[in-house]
Amino acid sequence: MMKKITVIGAGNVGATCANVIANKDLAREVVLVDIKEGTAEGKALDIWQTSSILNFNTRVTGATNDYLKTKGSGIVVITSGLPRKPGMSRDDLIKTNALIVKEVTEKVIKYSPEAIIIIVSNPLDVMTYCAYKAALKDEHKVFGMAGILDTGRYKAFIAEALKISPKDIHSMLLGGHGDTMVPLPRYTSVGGIPVTELLNKEEIDKIVDRTRKGGGELVNLMGTSAWYAPGAAAAQMVEAIVDDQQRIFPVCAKLNGEYGVKDVFLGVPVKLGANGIEEIIELKLTKEEKKAVEDSAASVKSMMDVLDGMNIFE
Ligand code: LAC
Repeated sequence: MMKKITVIGAGNVGATCANVIANKDLAREVVLVDIKEGTAEGKALDIWQTSSILNFNTRVTGATNDYLKTKGSGIVVITSGLPRKPGMSRDDLIKTNALIVKEVTEKVIKYSPEAIIIIVSNPLDVMTYCAYKAALKDEHKVFGMAGILDTGRYKAFIAEALKISPKDIHSMLLGGHGDTMVPLPRYTSVGGIPVTELLNKEEIDKIVDRTRKGGGELVNLMGTSAWYAPGAAAAQMVEAIVDDQQRIFPVCAKLNGEYGVKDVFLGVPVKLGANGIEEIIELKLTKEEKKAVEDSAASVKSMMDVLDGMNIFE
């Protein structure tokens, strides 16, 4: 159990993340911070009032823009920023959210210089880069959540198609959190059986396509972006770090030549433990898969260039 974990942004994603962290008793205290007066305090109080009902001890507190309350956090999850509206791509958010993520990260680091930082804000890969630049920290301690969410969706669709428990599905995914993401059916198994033996190519292609557009499907249904799965996915990363689990998850990490990609933040399999990213795992890829990863890296790089062009890190 960690002493203190902070979640910045008490919107739907941040509140869900704090709720799951508390439910799993991962910390003595979870601090929820938001800029909107009363929102973080209210949601924290509401979550804390479920403690005796759901049987957890984690004290959940809230603060309006007061980063002193976050002092000494071991992990900080950043969910701040505007969510997508119908018709918007994640990239449309870049300029607004970069300024927010930069400011928030600087405040977080001021009070918790040792914290591991998990980014959830969109566009995910470039916001992770933004936080990395603002935090001035070891790249193994600043990374982004997308792959657990994307594989979560992918696994849900496979479970539905096969009428099988989602718990038995293991999978991996590479690339950015967007339309260029690269789900890997070759690295997907159901109870140890390759999924390629259980579903035909057409069925798998359909699931891969629905996974790629999974976030958009929800934006279209609800008029805003998803929160249950994104919040729970970030909390799963927190759990792996708090309990030093050394679990393998797809995480948005800074690549230094792995997969032939350098200085780009991209979703890759990593081992997550007490030190954050303990190791980046390189998979053997087919020509086609390699090409898809390169395309995804190029797409993320072009957004990183947009951020660089904003000159906010003078
Ligand atoms: C999604 C948004 C949160 O994929 O990126 O639902």
